[in-house]
Amino acid sequence: MFSKRLHQVTRSGLMELGQQKKWLHLYPEDENDFSAVTSGRQVFFHSSFSKVQSFVKKGFEGGAKLAGVFDCAVVHLPRSKALAKHLIFLGTKFAPEGIVYVDGAKTQGVESILKAVSSLVPIAGQVSGSHGRLFWFLAQNVFSSWKASCYKKIEGGFLTRAGVFSADHIDPASEFLADSMPNELVGTVADLGAGWGYLSHRMLRNPGLSSIDLVEVDNVALSCAKLNCDDERAVFYWRDIETWTTTRKYDHVVMNPPFHIGRKIELDLGKTFIQKAYSILKKTGILWMGSNRHLSYEAMLSQLFTDFDEVAGDNRFKVLKASGTKG
Ligand SMILES: C[S@@+](CC[C@H](N)C(=O)[O-])C[C@H]1O[C@@H](n2cnc3c(N)ncnc32)[C@H](O)[C@@H]1O
Repeated sequence: MFSKRLHQVTRSGLMELGQQKKWLHLYPEDENDFSAVTSGRQVFFHSSFSKVQSFVKKGFEGGAKLAGVFDCAVVHLPRSKALAKHLIFLGTKFAPEGIVYVDGAKTQGVESILKAVSSLVPIAGQVSGSHGRLFWFLAQNVFSSWKASCYKKIEGGFLTRAGVFSADHIDPASEFLADSMPNELVGTVADLGAGWGYLSHRMLRNPGLSSIDLVEVDNVALSCAKLNCDDERAVFYWRDIETWTTTRKYDHVVMNPPFHIGRKIELDLGKTFIQKAYSILKKTGILWMGSNRHLSYEAMLSQLFTDFDEVAGDNRFKVLKASGTKG
């Protein structure tokens, strides 16, 4: 973890932090990521609605937009290599005269990023510990090829950006879900965890669909969804499903919920999505949910809905349809 590794650096006297007045943290995971930095002003940048909310609530400065010039930048490595490289590019751009620190766990690919950085600039220092590494270098204007080109076109003509879910291809579970749904959906739809908008795009092919609300925590993904679902029936919400509220009731909810936090399987996330779907569906509404075969949401569905069924499936994926909200 960054704070532990940074403490290691300061204790060893490897780095003088006193000069660094304005810190930019790119994609920090939690507030512990700042705790080792006791001097100067801390500014964060993140695309996740919940992270932005939680940092702001704790009194930190920052958000999903970047502006200004910084004395140093800290890149907290995300899992996506393309996004990691883009953040390093941003670090050098926004702290052009400063030091760029790159911190991450081995599972986040810090070793291969170190190798790639060291092929472009000299590494000024590094420490390893807590199953990861922190290294730093003086910013130089040699990372422009690491800038993730704004949008890239993938199969089907969809536009995506680095770091969003399934950035390089249509997710097979989502495609399986969309292929398994009827072609004549009517009424109002909510797409929970809409990503770059694949499911909504498919739903919008139904002429009887009157509106679709796309709710997504990642504003980069949502910016793609706006382009992929350019239709006046689509409305976009940069929100966390857990805290998003609406007075609307929907005829259908469609979702392929996330089931990982980092590398860890996290079924509770899917359960939060099911609970939200339950609370926003009309009595006559239907939940359409795609899932990997090995995940079991059925017990929760049977608690909340009078009917549920696996309407399609193979050895990798299943499509669950639930209707008749209880209570
Ligand atoms: C498995 S992906 C599915 C994306 C899209 N529906 C598709 O089919 O391609 C799950 C999506 O949920 C989003 N997500 C994760 N946690 C969320 C939360 N708490 N609130 C809203 N969206 C969330 C992720 O950013 C991701 O885009």
